[in-house]
Amino acid sequence: MADSPLTAGELERAGLRLDVDDAVATITLARPERRNALTYSTWRTLARIGETLPDGVRVVVVRGDGPSFSAGIDLRLFSPEGVPGEDTFGPRDEEFIAGLQAGYLWLRRPDIVSIAAVHGHAIGGGFQLALACDLRVVADDVKFAMKEPALGIVPDLTGTKPLVDIVGVPRALEICLTTRTIFADEAARLGLAELVVPAAELDSAVTDLVAAILQVKPETAAATKRLLRQAPHNTLEEQAAAERREQVTLLGDLIGS
Ligand code: ACO
Repeated sequence: MADSPLTAGELERAGLRLDVDDAVATITLARPERRNALTYSTWRTLARIGETLPDGVRVVVVRGDGPSFSAGIDLRLFSPEGVPGEDTFGPRDEEFIAGLQAGYLWLRRPDIVSIAAVHGHAIGGGFQLALACDLRVVADDVKFAMKEPALGIVPDLTGTKPLVDIVGVPRALEICLTTRTIFADEAARLGLAELVVPAAELDSAVTDLVAAILQVKPETAAATKRLLRQAPHNTLEEQAAAERREQVTLLGDLIGS
């Protein structure tokens, strides 16, 4: 059931940890011995975290334990032996994939700001998880790569849109079809990282960013995110109208109508 409480068992099976401290939820990819490889349970449990997130949460940080953010899909899922407790190897329909995508889609919700704190490798589904977040703070040892095409598949965890939105179609095509690694300098240059910091300073940089975001009123932050998210698809006139709508509502709340 969608709203049943998330259990410790679910999180553990998914290789995840969730810490909620007032307005900040931290999701940790917690299978470092497998470089935080992702399974179907990981994606489905991420969706459950979104569904059951306490109302007061305003910032969601996604981070990884160990030497890497995430090595992407658990490659054992592609083998006939599979991963114990996971769906067996076989063809998938669109509904199956939609259930996995739900794990990433909620990170764009306007009532939260999501931040990926990325260090080491962020490959395939790991790269797409970072792309699913609103902001990326990366360590200087970061290594992004979109490896899916090397496995004969497309990136299907909602990563193609943010990648294209950020770097444009030609660069996205080059990144995906060469499956090459993007290091920190290039990530910053391409806009794949809002901030690059020494690896030892990643946590403190994220803490500072979270504190700055929390200074803004929740309804103002939500309105701003709604507004900015629609800007690329709107004409100037549509965007101006959207600004007016959001402002009138905010001013009504601030000073009464
Ligand atoms: N799936 C399952 N197990 C993995 C994965 C993975 N994606 N990545 C690493 N592991 C396991 C390794 O098998 C190894 O297990 P073992 O100790 O039992 O031998 C352990 O994690 C550590 O891996 P190493 O390769 O030894 O770690 P290292 O830090 O040297 O390298 C790296 C890390 C670069 C991430 C490397 O493990 C790697 O290339 N992994 C595969 C990446 C990949 O192609 N992912 C699929 C992307 S496509 C998608 O996500 C849809």
